This record gives sequence, structure tokens and C-alpha cells, in this order.
Amino acid sequence: MSELFDERLADWKEQIDAELKNILDSLEYADEFKEILEYALFPGGKRLRPILLLEWHSVFSPPDEYALRYACGIEILHSYSLIHDDMPCMDNDDLRRGKPTVHKKYGEGKALLAGDALMDLAYRILNMPTPRGDASPFNLYPALCGDMGLINGQFIDLYGKINSLDDLVKMYRLKTGALIKLACVSGFMLGNNLNYQSGDKFVGSLFGNYVKSVITDRAAPEDERMIKYVMASGFGEAFGCAFQLYDDITEYIAGEKLSETSALKFIDLEEAKIALNNHLNDAAKTLEIVGGDTEYLSEFLQKFVIV
Ligand code: IPE
Ligand code: IPE
Ligand code: MG
Repeated sequence: MSELFDERLADWKEQIDAELKNILDSLEYADEFKEILEYALFPGGKRLRPILLLEWHSVFSPPDEYALRYACGIEILHSYSLIHDDMPCMDNDDLRRGKPTVHKKYGEGKALLAGDALMDLAYRILNMPTPRGDASPFNLYPALCGDMGLINGQFIDLYGKINSLDDLVKMYRLKTGALIKLACVSGFMLGNNLNYQSGDKFVGSLFGNYVKSVITDRAAPEDERMIKYVMASGFGEAFGCAFQLYDDITEYIAGEKLSETSALKFIDLEEAKIALNNHLNDAAKTLEIVGGDTEYLSEFLQKFVIV
């Protein structure tokens, strides 16, 4: 199964890369500007967020072009956040994915504009009307991956006070978790043909961690779809935390210099591994409740287990 899943991941990546290329090729940018945007997007990283969207979508629906393009919108948003995150006024990093960061290669002004452009482009894609002409589900969430989520989290990371593991996890939820959750919930909504209007009643559950209460009190939500929506949101929430812990643990094991906001500053390696596996288990529990063809999502989680 695992080999099959690796092939599937490679196939998703290929589709995502081809679509990102189509998107850039369809737009008119000054030559050098286009080169910079390409530099930021290719070769990509793991493409985790669009893959998660497409996996959630696939549980409910066969693949379609709209979902693929929407998934690329999320990857473009992620890419903008990395360009800005690396800049000297933020993390001041020289390398990203083994090559010079955008500002190192092209200078700060151009990097700033490239980040701005990718953010705008992402919002344009994510707001595309659905094939039936409805408002896209993204209309429910801009604040989540924007001012109240990712950007709020980046602010806390750089300028906030983090005195405990709890503070840290709250920051991770915003900085990293919000976009991951957006990917999972969007995949669920697109796979179920839910749009802005139909999803409106669900959105209250997006900002809280409802997973545990729903798992222990399954009678609470009235509607089966609502339960699954909450599970997609909970999966994103739990995996978002797991992913960040995984990142911290692998950096620690590799002997890299720990940032002030590494979990390993607050807990030791064994505790961090336990916390990681607890979050992965929480994510796995949501899949049990969703049922159906969720085995690829289970395999996805397996990739982040550290024993
Ligand atoms: C890097 O994200 C930033 C974090 C939130 C840790 P990824 O590890 O998903 O980056 P790429 O896209 O695969 O390089
Ligand atoms: C980047 O987080 C997260 C965002 C850009 C929102 P980090 O600073 O922790 O990740 P790396 O180490 O640069 O990939
Ligand atoms: Mg950084």
C-alpha cells in the first residue's frame, strides 16, 4: 500500500506543478517578474496543503479541474507567506528548499512585490465562482488564512510573548494550522458541492477545536454532513499541530540550531514525540468518524509518525 501511496503523492505533485505552470503562463507579467514568481514556485516543496485538499476532495468526489486549481491557490498563498517569512525584516533566512531565498537572489524590493503578487493571485483563484456559478467556499475563510490566522500567527511568532507550550501551540494553530485546516475543509466542501451559501451554517465551528467534544458526544450535531465537516476541520487542526511538531523534532534530531519557538525549548524529545503522536491519533480518529474511503488520508498521517 505504501508504495502505491508514494506513487499517488508523486502523481498529485505532477498535476499540481502542471497546473501552477498553466496559471503562471496564462498571466501577463513583466519578463523578470514572471521569472521571480517561477523561482518562488518551482521546484516546489512537499506540496502538502494542495495534496491534503485533493485527498479530502477525493474521499467524496472524483478529481476535477476546479478542485485542482483551487488547491493551487492554496499553494500559491503558502508560497507568498514563505517569501515574506524569509525576508531580513522577518526570519532573515538565506536558503529555502536548498536554494537562495527570493530576496537573496533578486533583492528585497522584488521579493516583497513577488510575495504581494502571489497573495493577490491566490485570493483571485480561491474566489473563482464554482463551476455552477456559485460563490466559492473560500468566501467563508479569507480571515482564517489571512489577518486572523496566518498573519496573526506570524505576528505572535515574531513579536508576541511565548512563555509556555500552550502559548506555542496557540501560535502554531494560527501560523501553520489555519492554512492546513483551510485546505482540508475546502477539500471537504468542494467534494460535497458545498459553496459559500450552503457552508454558511457550518462556519461557526471553524475557529474552535471541536474534535474532542464531537468524538465524545456524537449526538451533538444534528446533521451527518455537519459532523463530517467538523471532522475535516478537526483533522486539519490536529494535523496542523502534528506537522509543526514533526518539523521541530526533525530539526532537533538533525542537530539544527533551535529557534526560540521550537517545541523542544519547552519539552524534551520524548515528550515531543508523545505530543506528536497524540495529535496524529486525534487526526486519525476524525477519519474513523468520516468513514468511507479515507485510507489514503490515514497513510498520509503515517508519514509523520516518529517512533
Ligand atoms: C514550511 O512549510 C513552513 C512551515 C509552516 C513549517 P512546508 O514544510 O510545507 O514547506 P514546503 O512547501 O514543503 O517547502
Ligand atoms: C513559516 O514558519 C510559516 C509561515 C510562513 C506562515 P517558520 O518560519 O517556522 O518556517 P520555516 O522554518 O521558515 O520554514
Ligand atoms: Mg521562517
